[in-house]
Amino acid sequence: MGVISKCDPNSIKKAAQALIDGNLVAFPTETVYGLGADATNEQAVAKIYTAKGRPSDLPLIVHLPSINEIDKWATNIPDYAKKLATLFWPGPMTLILKRDKHIKDFVSGGQDTIGLRVPNNECALELLKKFGSLGGLGIAAPSANRYKSISPTSAMDVWKELGNQLTSQDMILDGGSCELGIESTIINCLDSLPRILRPGWITPHMIGNILGPNFLQNDSRDSIKHSGSDLSHYLPKTPVMLNVPPLPGDGLIALSKIQTPEGVYRLSSPDTLESLASVLYASFRNADELRLNNIIVILNEIGGLAEAILDRVKKAATHI
Ligand code: TXA
Ligand code: MG
Repeated sequence: MGVISKCDPNSIKKAAQALIDGNLVAFPTETVYGLGADATNEQAVAKIYTAKGRPSDLPLIVHLPSINEIDKWATNIPDYAKKLATLFWPGPMTLILKRDKHIKDFVSGGQDTIGLRVPNNECALELLKKFGSLGGLGIAAPSANRYKSISPTSAMDVWKELGNQLTSQDMILDGGSCELGIESTIINCLDSLPRILRPGWITPHMIGNILGPNFLQNDSRDSIKHSGSDLSHYLPKTPVMLNVPPLPGDGLIALSKIQTPEGVYRLSSPDTLESLASVLYASFRNADELRLNNIIVILNEIGGLAEAILDRVKKAATHI
């Protein structure tokens, strides 16, 4: 069973070596916890798919210590992608790029593309740097949950999700609760214009400020395979409903300005959308543990981060 260790220099050193040795290391990022393996080691990457119960044709994001490593993984990188990387990395953004010819199928689900991200979390960056100093090139890491379950935002959530899948050689690094709480914005950078595949903390408005107002080609017909594109995802066991009146026995997630009706359990009462995003998944988990009847999310805001939150809530509300 994977052991939980604090993110101190000694544990990070051990974790980097564990990755080099082909083991799994779950680690915090600013978005959610990732389940990491050496992205160049086929057996190690296969362990991720087994531990998660994830179909092998769903590609993994490769995490890098800095933008300088991008050319080792990707080729034909458009100028706009370089601009975004320079401005938003380290940060909650994943770029889908044409993969370099040396990169193997097993990390990219057989597609000729690669998802890259430099996370903005001290523990993750220290781990990536240490791993690099031991010869590692990148850490493949999906969210550290079972397939279709809720992404973990604490080390204990990782342990609850995957503890029984990990061996004594594997590790879970504990860096506390994730600051942002929802997964990175994924941007398809394969064409002349970027496309957002998964909304996140980096919003279309923020991207527009960099690339100009006509940057975005939103196309729902995008055929690229990414698990966030499944209709149902991020599923708590408790049914989730959006913008309906909560009844006694239900749990409520809403901004603090919304009152809690009699008999309803208030799961979270954040003041801002940022705070709502950061507690959303923990609130889902809490509702499951409390065995509430339903999770009701009230969110009438639109645009920006609200879109990313609504994307997750709608997927959680779709049980198919
Ligand atoms: O914030 C995040 O992105 C977290 C942290 C750990 O970095 N990671 C994460 O990974 O959410 P995952 O695997 O749970 O979701 C990543 C999504 C998946 O839907 C995957 O299929 C998609 O990114 N993806 C990865 N590489 C891709 C590629 N080459 N082409 C298309 N989609 C890709
Ligand atoms: Mg995931």
